[in-house]
Formats: sequence, C-alpha cells, structure tokens
Amino acid sequence: MKEFIEEKIQEIKATVGSEKAVSALSGGVDSSACTVLAHRAIGDNLKTIFIDDGLMREKEPEDVSKIFSDLGIKVDIVDAQEEFFLALKGKIDPEEKRKAFRNIFYTVFGREVLKSEAKFLVQGTIAADIIETQGGVKTQHNILEQIGIDPEKGYGFKVVEPIKELFKHQVREVAKSLDLPEMIHQRMPFPGPGFATRVIGEVTPERVSIVRKATRIVEEGIASLKPFQAFAVLMSDKGTGIESGQRKFGDVIIIRSVESKDAMTAEPTQIPWETLMNISKRITGELPEVVRVAYEITPKPPATIEYI
Ligand code: XMP
Repeated sequence: MKEFIEEKIQEIKATVGSEKAVSALSGGVDSSACTVLAHRAIGDNLKTIFIDDGLMREKEPEDVSKIFSDLGIKVDIVDAQEEFFLALKGKIDPEEKRKAFRNIFYTVFGREVLKSEAKFLVQGTIAADIIETQGGVKTQHNILEQIGIDPEKGYGFKVVEPIKELFKHQVREVAKSLDLPEMIHQRMPFPGPGFATRVIGEVTPERVSIVRKATRIVEEGIASLKPFQAFAVLMSDKGTGIESGQRKFGDVIIIRSVESKDAMTAEPTQIPWETLMNISKRITGELPEVVRVAYEITPKPPATIEYI
C-alpha cells in the first residue's frame, strides 16, 4: 500500500509538474483518496472543489468540507444546483439522464478549472467504472477518454486518474493508509450522478427531496447490518393508498440493499423482517407523499445495483 501511494504521488507530480490542478471531490471514498494523493503530490497547486449539484445526500457539502478541513485541505463549495436541475429537466430516458448529467458535470468543472488557471482535473475513476462503461452496461458519469471523448477538446482540461486500476475494496485500503477517517474509507458507495440515478422518470427538486429523506431512513434503519450499499429509489408509477379513510394515489419507494465486493456482481441483503417493517413504517409515516414501500430482491446480474 505504502509503495502504491508513493508511486502515485510521484506520477501525479510528474504529470502536473508546476501547473495547477483541480480535484473533483464528492466525499466518496474514491474522490477522497484521490484528493489526498494529489494534495500530497502538489500541495497548494491543488484546488479542491465540491460541486453542490442538488443531488447529494442530506448535509453532504457541510460534512465533507468539515472532514477535509480537519485534514488541512480546504474545500471550495460551488452551488450549481439550478444548472443541474435545468440540464435534467424533462429527461426520462436513463441513458439520456446519465449523459445530461455527465455533460453538465464537466461543463461546471471546466469553468472552475479555467477560473483556477488549472490544466488538470484529478478524479476518482475506478476500474469497475471503466469496465462497465466500455462494456456498454451504463454510462458512468466519469468516463471520458476511455470511450473516445477528449476532455481537453470538450471541456478544456486533461484528466488525471490515479486509482483507475483499483477496485472498491482496494481503494478502501488506500484511503485507510492515507489516514482518511473510517467514516470515509468505510463509506457506502454513492454514484456520481447521485439521486438522478434513484429517481425514476423526471428529476425535479421536489422528487429528489422525497428520495433524499427516504434514503436517510433506509441508511439509519439498516446501518447495524453494514451492507455494501443500501438506499431508496423513487418510482415513476404511483399506487393507491388510504389517508384519513380516503383513497390516495401516491408515490412508491423501493428499498435496495446489496452485498458485494467490487460492485461488478451483488446479492440482495437478507434484512430481518422487523428491520424492513420499521423502515417501511418510518417512510410512510414521515413522508406523506409515499403510500407504498417494497423491498427489492434481485441480484446483479440480471439487475444492476442502481435503477438507471
Ligand atoms: P451498477 O448500477 O452499474 O453500479 O450496478 C455499480 C456501482 O457503481 C455505482 N455507480 C456509479 N458511480 N458514477 C459513479 O461514480 C456513476 O455514473 C455510477 N453509476 C453507478 C453504483 O452506486 C454501484 O456502487
């Protein structure tokens, strides 16, 4: 691990030289490990940016910037929520949503890279992202060069990907060796496009707010089981429920929880019935829009982990 870290620090130094670089930090284990590697390599020539795209979990920008400021790394938060919702407006098709996200993501970063007079964007692409995008499973938001998109031509920067040979469990080891707190190195994966992958149909601030609250309830309810990944998904179809003795056609939330090592394959978590019932009761109790909750039990394959 120490050797790998030293090698990557030297590689980043050699690539970036005396230029500046921007790190795209999301607070997940991948981008956190890359940010620390790049900071150790080029120090103040690294600017770390967290884009608040409105698609993150509760309190994410504040929590992430606090963790990194404790590590001596300053994080600039850029509020781009309106731009992201505008880019996703009216989009229903999963791949169209993913591509719209990718485009606005790199447009916003391109602007920030230009403002910082940086030439490089450091990002936490990992092996599974590349394999699945190249294999045609789905368009992961952070894959450009590997599928023939030139980031310099398209967005004005070169991409540095220090951990692109690693799988998730290996990144966790790197993050631990880099002294990142357990809250980061053992964190559940969260996809770059955030709740855009967990709202089926159109992504609006109102619909994201429902899935965000449901996700917190799922994460809290299931925490003691330490699943690989657990979350809520908001369906586009509705279902009939009852409110104050009256029929109500409301939202449907799916609970998804999986066990996996590298996210390439996954098995549904065997959640105790009582835990599931408690989560379900909390979701319908705390979210008046939701009338139905279901637990999904499909492995990957044939399903993928995320819904789009
Ligand atoms: P799937 O849904 O393909 O997910 O089975 C495999 C793992 O990748 C995460 N995921 C993403 N991560 N950008 C990311 O950074 C993306 O576009 C993306 N799509 C899926 C997913 O959460 C799971 O851990």
